[in-house]
Amino acid sequence: MRDWVMRAADDLHVHLRDDVRSSAAIQAIRLGGSSRVLAMPNTQPAILSGADAVKYRDWLHRQGLDVELLMTIKLTADTTPEIIIEAARLGAVAGKLYPLGVTTNSEDGLQDPMFLAPVFEAMQQVDMVLSLHGEVPGVFVMDAESAFLPHLDEINSCFPNLRVVLEHITTKDAVDFVKKSASSCLAATITDHHLEITLSDVVGSRIRPHHFCMPVAKRPDDLKALIEVVRSGDPRFFSGSDSAPHLIHDKQSDCGCAGIFSSPYHMQVLASIFSRCDMMPRLEAFTSQHGANFYGLDVNSQQICLKPKSWKVPDRFGGIVPFMAGKMLDYELEWL
Ligand code: NCD
Ligand code: ZN
Ligand code: ZN
Repeated sequence: MRDWVMRAADDLHVHLRDDVRSSAAIQAIRLGGSSRVLAMPNTQPAILSGADAVKYRDWLHRQGLDVELLMTIKLTADTTPEIIIEAARLGAVAGKLYPLGVTTNSEDGLQDPMFLAPVFEAMQQVDMVLSLHGEVPGVFVMDAESAFLPHLDEINSCFPNLRVVLEHITTKDAVDFVKKSASSCLAATITDHHLEITLSDVVGSRIRPHHFCMPVAKRPDDLKALIEVVRSGDPRFFSGSDSAPHLIHDKQSDCGCAGIFSSPYHMQVLASIFSRCDMMPRLEAFTSQHGANFYGLDVNSQQICLKPKSWKVPDRFGGIVPFMAGKMLDYELEWL
């Protein structure tokens, strides 16, 4: 075990919220080693236009967010090509599609993604990234991601120059789909938690609400496929924590919310996982190069140092239960 100096991370999928959770979500970003984030638009009310995104970005910076913020808008049945063109003009880099009802704040999601074909056409024209929560509404939860892949295939073939990110993938099927795709416009994000837990850690001998997220963690073979594709160094797979804070009473409830709060110790957790899997040399490209390249951004110039040290993740961060609470990690983080 040695020190690892690397570029600060791009967290290309994070939920910063617009309420009492924002303060913890914002503070967590630097602690977890990120110097640029892509903020998801499923706030309430949602970020639906370029103007909303600019307002949200300015609000987050006023709340103390001191990293570069990449903006997204939420795609709904009311999104038009004009909204896309204006959002791109105002700097939004991605439009996020949520299938109807599959996750937190997706009640305005779509049953059939191709309903948005004219919107995809406009996104292709202005080179805005399509960010997909890839699950099919109503399909058995363990199969919902795999069932989405034919829809993704259709989107890729109808819009060959549309850059698409399949977010927070959880299955070997999704890994294989992206690996086998001939498209240079397709990539996938992988979360911290999906490199660590399976369904047994959510509903094994006990219910662990703080391990519950969508798409839900799957089987050991799926976990293995995710680890192995990261180990392979394939540039189409990059880090997006999907850090998604919820208040404790919203998690520990008879109808608990989906989402895992991983950003406070994002790089410390990843370093511990990568080190245990003997793939530390892959970490920097996964968190700080592949995603930047896909989004067409310069790589971060700020650097962090991950230092070997055994320490215990606190039970709470800003009143919220962080991922790995009470567990031992093997690295701490310093900004250089
Ligand atoms: C996210 C949230 O809480 O906003 N939850 C989750 O389980 N991943 C929404 C999402 O990214 O699907
Ligand atoms: Zn999602
Ligand atoms: Zn998310």
